[in-house]
Amino acid sequence: MVDLKLIQEFVKSRMGADHSGHDVAHIQRVANLCAHLLAAHPEADHIIVLAAAWTHDILDDKLVDDIEPVRQRLLVTYTAAGLTEEQVGTITEIITHMSFSKNLKHHYQLSIEGQIVQDADRLDALGAIGIGRAFYYGAHTGAPMFDPQIEPRTDLTKKDYRQKSPVINHFYEKLFKLGDLMNTPEAKQLAEQRIQVMQNFVTEFKAEWEFKS
Ligand code: ADP
Ligand code: NI
Repeated sequence: MVDLKLIQEFVKSRMGADHSGHDVAHIQRVANLCAHLLAAHPEADHIIVLAAAWTHDILDDKLVDDIEPVRQRLLVTYTAAGLTEEQVGTITEIITHMSFSKNLKHHYQLSIEGQIVQDADRLDALGAIGIGRAFYYGAHTGAPMFDPQIEPRTDLTKKDYRQKSPVINHFYEKLFKLGDLMNTPEAKQLAEQRIQVMQNFVTEFKAEWEFKS
């Protein structure tokens, strides 16, 4: 028996005070989206998916300065929760390779479990929540909301990706592209609905920006 609660408690203790959009509420939504996607993929291992979902952001270099001690504690927690060495290896591989920026240069072929967690994480960057998170992130880094003089960048490299860009540009540089990058058809369908919400928002945003009586 695997005790997922132990992993959840560890993540909650680490992420409680985050103000960059990687709070526990994000993790909980990702886990809920995973449960939705798992219903359509009975071949995927639930425990691997949920353990990876709960821990997918914990070693992000945006969130921790010194990753090594956190990695050690994470490995101890996985083992204490009852995961085997092989399961820990599978989960670690997922959380190491699933991020958007890591896939900019080389596409990494994830297992079905990894594909589900990646889809769920990307879905939480879309729709109304995605809009909220993008502005929240922009405020955190000091990026402007919008600047009509600055064109969205194309063909982003990992270095570009880390550079500050107006929040609305991030919609074009990353978020609108996520629909085509979804792994599972169920996530793709949800992504299309959520991207439509964002496109309507951007249209209205630009109309209000340019409003003159
Ligand atoms: P995750 O690993 O959870 O997908 P990221 O670190 O890529 O998260 O981003 C966290 C949130 O901040 C996402 O909703 C993402 O769209 C948003 N975000 C990331 N980079 C930017 C940016 N340059 N401008 C605006 N929002 C951003
Ligand atoms: Ni995430």
